[in-house]
Amino acid sequence: MNVLLVGNGGREHALAWKLLQSPRLTRLWVAPGNAGTAAHNVPIDADDIPALVAFAEANAIALTVVGPEAPLAAGIVDAFSARGLRIFGPSQAAAQLEASKSFAKRMMRDCGVPTAMFEVFDDYAAALRFMHRLPFASAPAYVIKADGLAAGKGVFVCDDLDKADQALTRIMIDREFGAAGERVLIEERISGPELSVLAFTDGKMITPMPPARDHKRVGDGDTGPNTGGMGAYAPAPDVKLALLDEVFSTVLQPVIDGMRAAGTPYVGVLYAGLMLTEFGIRVLEFNCRFGDPETQVILPLLKSDLIDICEMCVAGRLDPSAVRWSADAAANVVLAAPGYPGAYPKGSPISGLDTLPAGVTAFHAGTALHDGAVVTNGGRVLSVTACGDSLPGAIAQAYAGLAGVRFDGMHYRRDIGVSQ
Ligand code: AMP
Ligand code: GLY
Repeated sequence: MNVLLVGNGGREHALAWKLLQSPRLTRLWVAPGNAGTAAHNVPIDADDIPALVAFAEANAIALTVVGPEAPLAAGIVDAFSARGLRIFGPSQAAAQLEASKSFAKRMMRDCGVPTAMFEVFDDYAAALRFMHRLPFASAPAYVIKADGLAAGKGVFVCDDLDKADQALTRIMIDREFGAAGERVLIEERISGPELSVLAFTDGKMITPMPPARDHKRVGDGDTGPNTGGMGAYAPAPDVKLALLDEVFSTVLQPVIDGMRAAGTPYVGVLYAGLMLTEFGIRVLEFNCRFGDPETQVILPLLKSDLIDICEMCVAGRLDPSAVRWSADAAANVVLAAPGYPGAYPKGSPISGLDTLPAGVTAFHAGTALHDGAVVTNGGRVLSVTACGDSLPGAIAQAYAGLAGVRFDGMHYRRDIGVSQ
């Protein structure tokens, strides 16, 4: 069958790599893709839903897989479904679990899912008054969040009231995130190691993937500013089966049941961002899609055919026993452009991609082809991944594998896999 994959990051290169392993695949298209998927790229932007629908109809696309959240939140699944085109992902209404943090919080409250205490505000003065009443145990430390999609930048973890006021001002008065900041959440600040648990779901049945952890800060020892993720590993070795069972029964199942009961069944990948606090599991956020860079370590562990799984979910017939995982571990290290997560140059030549040893894969993230050569084209440039029968082995192999890869100003964390 012909498959269309939407997106252009490291996550999408990993999805393409996995889809290409399917014996059922006739032809893969990636819109718009990067240099890692060059042989499959079609130059349509991931947000151009009418053009994607037209392409799918003109090219007999039997299944479309969506990488990023923006087209999901904009209703790509509804638009495809209205034309009878099969597409893997949540509807616009279901994608609200990521696109509106207040929607997600209310859903969690309604379904009894453990999450940090919070309050929602549409008005700056009311938000400020609330904060000054010091309502949560963590006060004066709060987390201030823009309600809407802000490319991971709309969350401010604040130590005191001044910092929290600055965050409120940036979101609500300066409108740094545009309409995404019309509404804010003030949350209790909690602490503990984080964990990403992703799951396939057909709206009813749920199959969790191996628990993963990414490293969000740019610097070793979790220092410096937040990024989209500087590396990841799976499965997280400190996470025991009992904890996963608890995530299933207290987080995934109630939310999937709640979405179905609300008339907006959730189909696709549900990503639960968790914090393991001293008081138990708390959900920090939901994402309505695969994670980046978690996907680059999760998909290499998937033994089953991804096309089969997507099809089962879309058809409402997910059979959890048909989703099989390797017992190995996987790790990846993100190679970033100089300046990232701030401003960074583009167009630097990348060398050494032909030096990767067997078993190491460099998933492309921010890359492009320029006169036939691979050049940098984003902040996170490459995601070098290796698997092994132990996590330390996988980590060592990923680092050994990237040793020959170079571009101007390249930087990466040296402590991927060292637990938080
Ligand atoms: P989010 O996009 O909601 O996952 O937030 C991004 C990051 O902010 C998370 O990965 C956490 O590190 C941090 N964070 C979010 N909410 C809280 C909270 N209530 N308490 C402490 N840290 C948080
Ligand atoms: N790695 C975090 C995310 O994909 O949102």
